[in-house]
Amino acid sequence: MRPSIVAAPDRAAEGRQRIDWVRRHMPILSQLETVFRKEQPLQGLRVVVSVHLEAKTAYLALVLRSAGAQVAVTGSNPESTKDEVVAALAAAGLHVYARQGASPDEMRGMMGMALDVQPNIIIDDGGDIVELLHEDRAELLPHVLGACEETTSGVMRAKARCLAKQLAFPVLLINDARCKYLFDNVHGTGQSVWDGVMRSTNLVVAGKTVVVAGYGWCGKGVGLRAQGLGAQVIACEVDPVNAADALMNGCRVMPLAEACREADIIITATGVRHTLRADHFAVLKNNSLLANAGHFWDEIDVASLQAAAAERCRLREQVEGYRMPDGRWLYLLGKGNLVNIACADGHPAEIMDTSFALQALAAKYLAVHGHSMTSAASKVPEELDQHVARLKLSGVGVSIDTLTPEQRTYRSSWQA
Ligand SMILES: NC(=O)c1ccc[n+]([C@@H]2O[C@H](COP(=O)([O-])OP(=O)(O)OC[C@H]3O[C@@H](n4cnc5c(N)ncnc54)[C@H](O)[C@@H]3O)[C@@H](O)[C@H]2O)c1
Repeated sequence: MRPSIVAAPDRAAEGRQRIDWVRRHMPILSQLETVFRKEQPLQGLRVVVSVHLEAKTAYLALVLRSAGAQVAVTGSNPESTKDEVVAALAAAGLHVYARQGASPDEMRGMMGMALDVQPNIIIDDGGDIVELLHEDRAELLPHVLGACEETTSGVMRAKARCLAKQLAFPVLLINDARCKYLFDNVHGTGQSVWDGVMRSTNLVVAGKTVVVAGYGWCGKGVGLRAQGLGAQVIACEVDPVNAADALMNGCRVMPLAEACREADIIITATGVRHTLRADHFAVLKNNSLLANAGHFWDEIDVASLQAAAAERCRLREQVEGYRMPDGRWLYLLGKGNLVNIACADGHPAEIMDTSFALQALAAKYLAVHGHSMTSAASKVPEELDQHVARLKLSGVGVSIDTLTPEQRTYRSSWQA
């Protein structure tokens, strides 16, 4: 393996402090760490982790190592990589290849370096490592037991590959587990997107018109929190059911081009390229804020925005102003990268606790069953979802009811 790439080795103590803080607020993963340390379920296996590289991900990587694995870590978006966390992981003896602000080519190169570990298990976020393995590093495919995919966009890619019979190993779809999307996509994105908007702009949300493009799990969370902050929300959708859901949640619903004329703040959360594009920039209100919550930075067509602008300047650390030829100013947050990660610290630790507990348990599942699984994109087994939820509840001292034997019979019979 090549030596780790560490941009700020002198910041390891700061990184350790950040990891220690999230560890205190990730009780499910902490419980799994204790069990894994004893049982060593990943003993002798090699794991690559490619998720937004900040403190919570670092803790997941450390838990996987405590389970006996050799772990190589890389980022999933250069803007979200925290150099102090990279330094802490390298100092802890993991192989780490990531640098904040790396170019796409550099980033790809660093993912390749992580793959040199010859992974048996992949923890991916957005599907880039799975793609790289299939397209450029096919010689490594025979080592791979399987992958765990974190987010909706990566799930879409894995399902498409599976449908085309181009998937060389099983992929467990973490995102499609209830303990993922019900907490992470809705509450995590809902809270942290507004954290990012508020931190980067220091402006008020109350009284504004917020447009949410894509009212799926993430968009719903963003819209509900905007309403809680006192904004009026307009939802834009291509799916009639999700559009109706938005309506029932008190949003106005209309096509995006119409909504742009009213938007003070517009958040994309579709997982689809160029959701916000040239024809929208042409009609957006003066002084509107544009931000993306979707996985890939191309949901906002930044190249077209740059091409249309008469002037472009940096106004705050994560805010770029674009002056249109007619004099309107549009403000892009976090260069179009995920606003909650580029402009804030990503999801709260308690939220990533459930997502990463699923990742850790899914990795263990692949270690045991990977050899006998078919190369398909499939849901995480229901018992893992239930296990994580029970740990979450017990961790906060909450107990729930159970069905009586009579009720169980009633639920499984038609005669009653
Ligand atoms: N910011 C984060 O931390 C975070 C967290 C989880 C997921 N994500 C990412 O956010 C994106 C959305 O995830 P999700 O779980 O909400 O997906 P989802 O499938 O539940 O929702 C996406 C919605 O967008 C709609 N849509 C698609 N194209 C559209 C268009 N052109 N105009 C309007 N609506 C459109 C779809 O109909 C759907 O309702 C994905 O890229 C996912 O990977 C980000």
